[in-house]
Amino acid sequence: MKTAILLITLAVLVADQVCEGVKFGPICCGRTENTILHCADEACRNYKTIRNTGNGFDKGMDILCCDGATVKAPIDVTIKNVSRPYGNGNAIDNGLLLEGEGLCFNLFYIKPIKVSGTAKKGEIIGSMLPMQTVHPGIPTHLHVLMCDKSDPTQYV
Ligand SMILES: *[C@@H]1O[C@H](CO)[C@@H](O)[C@H](O)[C@H]1NC(C)=O
Repeated sequence: MKTAILLITLAVLVADQVCEGVKFGPICCGRTENTILHCADEACRNYKTIRNTGNGFDKGMDILCCDGATVKAPIDVTIKNVSRPYGNGNAIDNGLLLEGEGLCFNLFYIKPIKVSGTAKKGEIIGSMLPMQTVHPGIPTHLHVLMCDKSDPTQYV
């Protein structure tokens, strides 16, 4: 009996290590919290309502932003590299690959200030690219894509 309880406790402890409690700070546009876009349009989506657009980065989440706005590190991060959502060089084809607090994720559609080193939560890491010039009319947003394509809802 004691062994069973011990094993269950261990299992719970291990399961809890999935970056329990990591919470993104506000990322964009001087907002005090992150606003997730929940709507049917495929340019404006969250992880659960995503349609398979076949573009290879359809699993992710959109966070409301403003063209040209400063973008802050959501958590303490190491900046691993630039990361391009399309690879076609259009005006919003830029982003960062970030790691920190056990998470690995991309932030797309931003112009980075730096592409290596570290940034503290809340530190400015870039600015929002001009999404309105590429997709006029849709809400300007950042795209969060976890490296393992998992659902980022619990962190955002
Ligand atoms: C960084 O990203 C660029 C562009 O996507 C890529 O060519 C390069 O191999 C990457 N560097 C590393 C160290 O992964």
